[in-house]
This record gives sequence, C-alpha cells and structure tokens, in this order.
Amino acid sequence: MAATAPTAAGHRARPGSVPFLWRLAVGGSAIGLVLAAARGVQLDGVAHGGSWRIFGRLHPVLVHFPIVLLLAVPVLELAGRWRPALREAAGFLLGCALPCAVVAVWAGLILARTDGHDGALLTTHLQGGAAVAIGTALTWWVRPWSRFVYALLLILTVGTLMWAAHNGGSLTHGADYLTEPLPPMLKQALHIKEAPAPETYGADTVFGAAVRPVLEKNCFSCHGPEKQKGDYRMDTFAALLAGGKSGVPAIVPGDILHSELLRRLSLDVTDEKVMPPKRKPRPTPAEVALLHWWIKQGASRTLQVSAVTNAPPEVLALLAGPVVAPAPEGEAPYQPRVGDYSALRDEIARLEKTLGIRLVQVSQHSGDGLLLRTRGAEARFGDAELAQLTRVAPFIVEAELDGTRITDAGLAALKPFSNLTRLHLEHTALTGTTLGVLKELPKLTYLNLCATRVTDDQLSALTSSAGLQQLYLFGSQVTSGGVSGLKARLPNTQIGPIELTKDPAP
Ligand code: HEC
Repeated sequence: MAATAPTAAGHRARPGSVPFLWRLAVGGSAIGLVLAAARGVQLDGVAHGGSWRIFGRLHPVLVHFPIVLLLAVPVLELAGRWRPALREAAGFLLGCALPCAVVAVWAGLILARTDGHDGALLTTHLQGGAAVAIGTALTWWVRPWSRFVYALLLILTVGTLMWAAHNGGSLTHGADYLTEPLPPMLKQALHIKEAPAPETYGADTVFGAAVRPVLEKNCFSCHGPEKQKGDYRMDTFAALLAGGKSGVPAIVPGDILHSELLRRLSLDVTDEKVMPPKRKPRPTPAEVALLHWWIKQGASRTLQVSAVTNAPPEVLALLAGPVVAPAPEGEAPYQPRVGDYSALRDEIARLEKTLGIRLVQVSQHSGDGLLLRTRGAEARFGDAELAQLTRVAPFIVEAELDGTRITDAGLAALKPFSNLTRLHLEHTALTGTTLGVLKELPKLTYLNLCATRVTDDQLSALTSSAGLQQLYLFGSQVTSGGVSGLKARLPNTQIGPIELTKDPAP
C-alpha cells in the first residue's frame, strides 16, 4: 500500500507524504508517550528534585516551539490556496510540531514533579497540554486523507493550545495577569471580577480573633481566595455579608432569621444544601454558637473582645482562647500527654508543606499534643505519606485519616503513634486484615471504621483493645452478630449502630 493507496474517502495520499503504517506508528507512539507521561509521573506536590530538574526547568522555553509551529500551520494552509508550496510546508511544520509537543508535555510533568507543583489550575494546564499533543498527533495523522476532518481537528487543537497556554500563563503570572490592566468599564462588560485586596483584622476584635478564623478553618477551602463555590467568597468583609449566586444576603447584621449563612449551617447534615457540604469537617457547636451570637449582635467588624461582657458561656470561652482550668487545690499538677517536640518544629513545618496536611497543636500547652488533619490532601495521602510521619508520630493524639488512600498494608505505620487516642479511618479502602496493629496503641479510645470493608472476622483483632470507648462501624461489612460477639468481649466499649436508626425522641 503506502503513499498512493486510495482510501475509503476516495482521497489519495499525496506523493511525498509518509506511508500509512509509518504514520500510524509515529502518531500512535506520540500519543502513547503522552499518556505514559500522564499516568507514570506522579504529582504529589512534593518537590522531588533530582537530575531531571534541569529538563523540567526548560519547559517554559521548550513549550514555545510547538506553539509557534502549530500556530503557523493554519496560516500556511490558508496561504496555500494561492501558493500551493506553502501547503506543503504546513504539513512539514505540523510534523515538526508533534515531537516538540510531546517533549513539552514531558518537560512540564517533570517540572511539576521535581519542583513539587500541584493544584487545580496546574492539573487543568497539564490536561490541556496533553490534549494539544494528542490533537497534534491526530491532526497530523488524518491530514493526507480528509481535508474536512483535518480542518476540524486543527481548529480544535489550536483552540485547546490557546487555552492551555493561557492557563500556563496564569500559573506563572497569576490568574488576572492578562485582565488586570483592562479599563474598569471593559472589565465590567466582560464580567471579569477583580481579585479583592487582602484584608487584615485586629486580633483584638471579635471578628479578627474568633469569627474569621472559624470561617477560615471550615469554609475558605471552597469560599476563599482560591475557589468561590456558589460564587460566594468570605475572605473580604463585604463579600462575606453579600452572599453568592442565590442573591440572598449571607449575613444580615442583627437578623439571624434572614442570614443565609446561619440557615445553611443549621440544616440537617443529610440535607443537600447543608454547609459545609456532607462529610466535610464542620465547625464545633461552640463555633456555630459564636457565629450565631456575633450576627445577632450586629455582625460588627470592629467590636473589641475586651468589650464583650454578655455572651453565652461557650462563646466567652472561645473568645478567651482555649482555656485550661487551673488545677484545683490538692489535685495533681498539669500532666503533659506527650513529650516535648519543640526540636521538631522545622520538621513539622516541612511535613505540613510537602504533604499538604496540618499538624495542629491541641491547646496552648504543647504537652497536649498534635492533631493530624489531612483535609484537602486526602487524595494524595496514602501509605507512603503516613510512613513519613514516623518522627512526629509519638506527639500525635488524634489522626484524621478518613477519606485518605490508606490501605491495610499501610496501617503498620501507625505503630509509632504511641499516644494516639482518636483515630478516623472511615471512608477508606481498608478491609481490616491488619487491624491487629491497633493493639499497639495503648491509649486508643475512639476508632471510626464506618464505610470501610471491614468484616466480622477482622473485628476480632480488636478484642484486646480494652481501652476503646467508642467504635463506629456503620456502612462497614460487619453484621449484628459480629457486633454482639465483640460487645461480649469489650463490655466497656460503646459500639455505634450498624444500621440506620431513628434518633430517640428527646
Ligand atoms: C467543600 C466545599 C465547601 C465548603 C467547605 C463550604 N461550602 Fe458553602 N458552598 C459550596 C458550594 C458548592 C455551594 C454552591 C451550591 C449551593 O448553594 O449549595 C456553596 C454555597 C454556599 C452558600 C450560598 C451562597 C449563595 O448565596 O448562593 C453559603 C451561604 C455557604 N455556602 C456557606 C458556607 C459556610 C458558612 C461554610 C463553612 C462553615 C461553607 N459554606 C463551606 C461548597 C462549600
């Protein structure tokens, strides 16, 4: 067959074009290389370094080759209507663009891995880049056969190229780099929202000291500077009150009944509209009480903490900061739960940064230990990440591993968590074969295994965890028989229901 074989569409491959099998092999390998890169290069936000780094750093330079080549192709195709030689050149440049695009994708992935970049915009940019390389391969491949499909693919590929390039620009220069200098009228006409200037609040005000931190902790991941779900952002005071898409004000100062924010917070956790959405960490009842009280008082931005005298006790306690009651006379003095980890401060900061987790101090006494929070990093927190915590493990008293990628094999890494009291493992792929490890956690009082694949058989591994006070198994594969078996062995453990029950009437 080869160069002049007629095709189904009746077109003839032009002389000089590459034979069919060759095109198939080259186009296929290009696509294969892109897919292999996308699958094989793991982006975990950790800067892995290494000698490939220099190749990654060349991405911003290399990426311009396929861009220029691809942009030239439609120009030459059009000009080729008058000067056919240019059309020939278009095919040649398209062929050159293909390896350049593949190399640029590889360099981009290596840049992200060696320098530890990640995030939603980066993912979009990478997907765009990979789509351009694959589009280039397909475009190059169909060119000899169908002008129509070719033209269509070329338009799509160049369109994707623009979009991917724009995302790349936003990554390096900031999302509003291009639109920022536009005149305000034009911005309004184009519905471009200006990023508001960051605001700061005095730590002596109720808002700055307590209200905003609560929102920051529970809501900013979706309603902050980076994301504005429902078109609602809370990081500036005006926007916080204004609300989002619904048009309903989120906060009406002094009016708790018409403040959408409070309504959303107080919905039933199974409600579609509840905030934070289902399964996301919720503010504590005291924190909700604080928001409630603050809005009722007029949602002041300036009210001083020192001026607050009349507020519900839980609110006063929050405003006073975490309180540790002074030891009453005759009682034992403060007993630290964990040892001194001050020498590990840098290590803790590094772990927080590279793993995207938080290691939060439980109280102002460092002796009360640390909370391990994986919220936001669940998708990239697995066995390997848990194993990296070995050095700080003895200082962690509570570990929120729910929703992470942790597996049975990874549980062994919990051994050094000698002071762990609360362990969240719900919504993980655990089957429970290694639950025996938990025997080695003498202080464990709370264990959540909801929505895992743990079965009755595996549960028997817990029979020697006599200190366990609360155990949750809802949505696991444990049966009522398994529960009663365990209850007999662990009479002091409160085991949550495994089936839906109605809450007892108050
Ligand atoms: C995991 C993401 C996520 C978190 C965390 C989150 N929200 Fe939302 N929020 C959304 C989404 C998505 C919408 C839009 C859909 C809707 O209205 O239900 C929304 C909408 C809202 C709205 C309605 C805005 C409007 O006028 O349309 C309010 C009010 C709100 N959230 C309050 C909160 C508060 C308060 C918190 C923190 C306690 C919070 N949200 C945390 C995802 C989140």
